[in-house]
Amino acid sequence: MADLFEDKSQDWDSRPIPQLISEGVGEVLLHTIPWDPAMEIMDFGAGTGLITSHVAPGVRRVWAVDVSASMLEQLEAKDALEGRVETVCRDILAEPLARRFDGVVSAMAMHHVEDTERLLERFFEHLVPGGFVALADLDAEDGSFHPEGTQGVYHHGFDRESLARQLVDAGFVDPQFHTAVTLQKEERAYPVFVVTATKPNDG
Ligand SMILES: C[S@@+](CC[C@H](N)C(=O)[O-])C[C@H]1O[C@@H](n2cnc3c(N)ncnc32)[C@H](O)[C@@H]1O
Repeated sequence: MADLFEDKSQDWDSRPIPQLISEGVGEVLLHTIPWDPAMEIMDFGAGTGLITSHVAPGVRRVWAVDVSASMLEQLEAKDALEGRVETVCRDILAEPLARRFDGVVSAMAMHHVEDTERLLERFFEHLVPGGFVALADLDAEDGSFHPEGTQGVYHHGFDRESLARQLVDAGFVDPQFHTAVTLQKEERAYPVFVVTATKPNDG
């Protein structure tokens, strides 16, 4: 799989949009999830670790999963994450991990995966009973968020009702949406949601 983030990885953390998303999503995560120091968490599409950095201090370990080796290299260079994070450069849709997690967090990665249904099923399979997802992405937009021709973008955001239905179809219960931040780009507003949902205890 080509590393579509090789160039972007070099200055990702200093870009205003990832910073705003990280702040907004981090705030929602910290206030909506009952974090526990024993938790093992997967950050799907972890990139350089902006979201991992919010989560790692409160849990046992974060498994930072991404298909971009260059983004994960930036994450691995962060001293504050040393000993708290395992990086995994793998497409878990093709090759699942042989472990389960207490939660899956993700920011702005779902729109890079064509088959959302399969992705949500994969998240479900990777969770312990009672585990949670907390997934951030753009609300449905008109396709203007990414510059024209950007490779690897399969969804122009997500319709909340449809995504809630897909989560329930995958086996999750109680999908709840929060607006984490509204990005402004060239006079347009792009809200970013975090949806939380739970795998039932008997799931
Ligand atoms: C927009 S970046 C977001 C990075 C990070 N979550 C953040 O908020 O800064 C999307 C990330 O998803 C990753 N990604 C795309 N497709 C993926 C897949 N199938 N499996 C894992 N990661 C994927 C990309 O490599 C990239 O690092």
